[in-house]
Amino acid sequence: MGIKVGLLGLGTVGAGTAAILLAPQGRHPLLQEIELCRVGVRSLIKPRSIALPPEIMTTDLEQIVRDPEVDIVVEVMGGIEPARSLILEAIAHGKHIVTANKSLIARHGDEIYTAANHAGVYVMLEAAVAGGIPIIQTLKQSLGVNQIQSISGIINGTTNYILTRMREEGGEFADILLDAQKLGYAEADPTADVEGLDAADKISILASLAFGGRIKLKQVHCEGIRSITKTDIAYAEQLGFVIKLLAIAAKDKAYPDQSPPRLSVRVHPTLIPKSHPLASINGVYNAVCVIGEPLGQVVLEGLGAGAGATASSVVADILQITAVLKTQAVWSLGGTPNTGDGSKISLLHPLLSCSHQEYCEVSPMEDVNTRFYSRFITSEQPGVIGKLGTIFGTHQVSIESIVQKDIHDTAAEIVVVTHKVREGNFRAAIAEILQLSSVQSIPSILRTLEQ
Ligand SMILES: NC(=O)c1ccc[n+]([C@@H]2O[C@H](COP(=O)([O-])OP(=O)(O)OC[C@H]3O[C@@H](n4cnc5c(N)ncnc54)[C@H](OP(=O)(O)O)[C@@H]3O)[C@@H](O)[C@H]2O)c1
Repeated sequence: MGIKVGLLGLGTVGAGTAAILLAPQGRHPLLQEIELCRVGVRSLIKPRSIALPPEIMTTDLEQIVRDPEVDIVVEVMGGIEPARSLILEAIAHGKHIVTANKSLIARHGDEIYTAANHAGVYVMLEAAVAGGIPIIQTLKQSLGVNQIQSISGIINGTTNYILTRMREEGGEFADILLDAQKLGYAEADPTADVEGLDAADKISILASLAFGGRIKLKQVHCEGIRSITKTDIAYAEQLGFVIKLLAIAAKDKAYPDQSPPRLSVRVHPTLIPKSHPLASINGVYNAVCVIGEPLGQVVLEGLGAGAGATASSVVADILQITAVLKTQAVWSLGGTPNTGDGSKISLLHPLLSCSHQEYCEVSPMEDVNTRFYSRFITSEQPGVIGKLGTIFGTHQVSIESIVQKDIHDTAAEIVVVTHKVREGNFRAAIAEILQLSSVQSIPSILRTLEQ
């Protein structure tokens, strides 16, 4: 039995996927049983990086998702519509789905998985998070027996590229962004990357898989990197840290018995101790650090984007589904289980399907416990540090280190790193500090990575 694939999109990822499917030699032998039978695009006359038989190309994507010949629909067109409708239509026609579309899954994952479970088909999305890094199947399978405590990841290559260059060259954000756009490392509209929205989509998917509950995207706290300056990068360096945009999902330890667990899910620039494995992930590379019990810490690193890396994950998903379809006859020897609601989820391989229905509660940011880095511009007068210390102390914020530098005759810069503190207490202290006449501004407040 050959497995037939219909591809929606032949851009960067689609062409990379087709290239692997058309050259199966030297890869897993099962690839030879997979046939790329339909490819849907917007334009039939556009030059392509890969030569495909013209008869399999079409601009009628509806036809592909309804084609009785097609077993697996691979959606690599991007965007919300028509991708969402085409996937739902494909599911309704009994097709398995492979997608690389994180923004679609982060927004409409519940609708898509509910439809898929009802229809008894798989929706696989390895390529949607961290491109070529096999983090999704790792969480679902290899780490599945662990109680996950936290996931922290550098999962946006564009921001990591910008922050790496800012650190290496001592440049400012706006200049490096402009250059990154010229070189093709950042989009013309960089909002989704630099504001942390792309990383928020991805961490909501990872959190959902790791902690067994759905995540409401609007509850993911999100701060981008626009306000990071070379001054903060230099201070961080001096204090033994590197600044990275981190996406974090962690169990809220104040609620140990909740199921699914109560989480902190957030994206923000973070000071990472130089000794931590994530501190050395540079350029467009991504990395994900998972801490679980009993395993401890695991770090996966690799390319988060690009044709080859992303297609490797897409085809791995196609292969997984193919393997299951090939053995389905054996599985079904026991007869069709009755779920009572007409759903066919119990026919699905439990390590590949996604069955959770409940939502994880997400804790407010005030409840996060972390160390803070803050930089104050103050008047050059005696006693300012004492006043800061008194206000911090009133709010149970204890100071780990403090650096003061004169920036000109009348102003000084004071950098404070706190011990671990509840964010609500720290913010209350900051609100009071802002009332001091000797404090001119607080240009930056950043959190550190806590393990
Ligand atoms: N690029 C990466 O490195 C990467 C990494 C991880 C995940 N992803 C995800 O993978 C997906 C695809 O990304 P990409 O970079 O490959 O995109 P892309 O290069 O822009 O390619 C999109 C493809 O989809 C086709 N398409 C788009 N809208 C269509 C429509 N309405 N009707 C018919 N065809 C349509 C386009 O057809 P034409 O060629 O005819 O215009 C093109 O072939 C996105 O969800 C993205 O977030 C990408």
